[in-house]
Amino acid sequence: MVQVPVGAWISAAVLDLMPGQRRPATVLVGLGTVSALPAAVAGLNDWAALSRDQRRVGLVHAAANTVGVTLYAGSLAARLSGRHGVGRTLGFIGLTAVSLGAYIGGHLAYKQGAQVNQSISELHRMSDGWHSLAEMAALPQRTLVTREVDDVSVILYRHGDEVTVMLERCPHQSGPLGEGEVQEIDGHACVVCPWHGSAFRLNGGEVVQGPSGNDQQILPTRVQDGVLQTRLP
Ligand code: FES
Repeated sequence: MVQVPVGAWISAAVLDLMPGQRRPATVLVGLGTVSALPAAVAGLNDWAALSRDQRRVGLVHAAANTVGVTLYAGSLAARLSGRHGVGRTLGFIGLTAVSLGAYIGGHLAYKQGAQVNQSISELHRMSDGWHSLAEMAALPQRTLVTREVDDVSVILYRHGDEVTVMLERCPHQSGPLGEGEVQEIDGHACVVCPWHGSAFRLNGGEVVQGPSGNDQQILPTRVQDGVLQTRLP
């Protein structure tokens, strides 16, 4: 969602450096300013699911962007009233502010892993082929069992003859789902993360309760000679 305002504002800055481009530059500044609002709402929604450290950085990110949007709103008003010189200046300062905001947002996503699936990278450590996990006859009903595949931790949950195998590390911040509780939520058995309470359906991995914004990865299974096996999806 941020691509529209950022693209519009950068394009407007380029046009501002060229002669005779006042009108398209004004349209792009307006487009960027209007489209920043839904992006901000989405950002606020993301922010609500962050950890304390990430929220602090998120606040600085939001503050820089708020300054930028305010400057662009002023730039738009100036352009519409015929003061294009002022509009251009405010636009360039606004671009500096939102660039700082974008840099901080990048730090949040790429360095701090905000709203990034923390468990999925575990799959790279699993080798190809089927891996034996447990004798079906020894697998208890409706109980979380933790096993290792190569050095990747997975949890097993048996319900009747169906067994779910999912990655054990929570996609939110790598909490140990194997130490979580099984709870019935909306009629489905779910594992609840012991760290921050995200809940994932045990028959599909869908997240039904945040703060995780990602589903949990389920692994394929088969039973071979009474032995439960799994492999990479
Ligand atoms: S680590 Fe935060 S909910 Fe699991």
